[in-house]
Amino acid sequence: MEISRRKFLGTSAAAAAALTFDRSASAATPRISVIDRARVSEPAFQPVVVASANGIRGVARAYDMITRQNADTLDAIIAGVNIQELDPEDQSVGLGGLPNEEGVVQLDASCMHGPTKRAGSVGALEDIATPSLVAKAVMDYTDHIMLVGAGAKKFALEMGFKEQNLLTEKSRRDWLRWKACLNPVDNWLDTRSDSAASPPPTASLSFDDPLHVKFTTGTINMNAVNAAGDMSSVTTTSGLSWKVPGRVGDSPIIGAGQYCDNSVGAAGSTGRGEANIKVCGAFLIVEFMRQGMSPDQACMKTIDRVIAMTERRLLDPAGRPLFDLQFYALHRDGRFGSATAYEGARFSVADASGARLVPMKFKFARSERPQMPEVRCRRA
Ligand code: GLY
Repeated sequence: MEISRRKFLGTSAAAAAALTFDRSASAATPRISVIDRARVSEPAFQPVVVASANGIRGVARAYDMITRQNADTLDAIIAGVNIQELDPEDQSVGLGGLPNEEGVVQLDASCMHGPTKRAGSVGALEDIATPSLVAKAVMDYTDHIMLVGAGAKKFALEMGFKEQNLLTEKSRRDWLRWKACLNPVDNWLDTRSDSAASPPPTASLSFDDPLHVKFTTGTINMNAVNAAGDMSSVTTTSGLSWKVPGRVGDSPIIGAGQYCDNSVGAAGSTGRGEANIKVCGAFLIVEFMRQGMSPDQACMKTIDRVIAMTERRLLDPAGRPLFDLQFYALHRDGRFGSATAYEGARFSVADASGARLVPMKFKFARSERPQMPEVRCRRA
């Protein structure tokens, strides 16, 4: 990312003013020149919002709230992820999220508020479309950080959240198809209406199979900094599709699915949560940035750590991961970055240049992505 002239002036002006003050520290009256006085009144930080690719509408909303309405960074990014949570077409979060192996949608979310150093989280929450807001309510209204399962739902209802069926017809049909393709000799038949158009009774297992035959993960992570240098982070998800009931991924784990330290930066993840939890990815990225790495470098170094910590069965013979995992990072100074294992992914950014999708740094070219085996379905 290029540093804009305005930002450079703002940052260097603040540094210059600080130096002037330091040099005069022993004097009775610090000498700050007229020029420095004018410059120190400029905002030292540039507002930026960063998210996963599915957050492209959300970063625009959050940036607008931060810059035009002076909204708190956490309120703004939660409003941003609410767009996806409430969108029935997004099968990775909230309403319409893909269910667990029993056809029940279970949601995870967590958030951190940088300036007040608080955090909230919910895991395996059922029947509430906006787990990000329930996570914030845990943060705001309790002395706890994480609530799960039936307790999380009871708390949400007490807080006034609306109970609703989150399983859309599309997600229910995808779940049935997954069941049909699970075992070619069980009693479930694949009744897809396109069966005549697709003669071979096979379904390819690719990383991003749009028909969701395989397990898929989808999530939205969003991070923001405002003109005062205050930051927040949030991650929300329906988790791994077809998961064992009660499975909780990385999204609600503070330090894995997201992390925010107001003095350094914020980070988060989407993708295979089991791989991320083992390296505390979001925390590690923030720590790498604290040590001086750029957001891109911090994310890529964490991808390296993930691969190093991955069990053999999830790597191909060349040591490349058989799953996807993406990291996103935002430094307090406005620099942002991301990384993933394989070429082709993008992430969302909103700043003074507008909202846009930016290519992610990657470790392996698209051509190096391992092919997945095929599964056979018994068609009706
Ligand atoms: N990253 C989302 C999940 O694994 O549940």
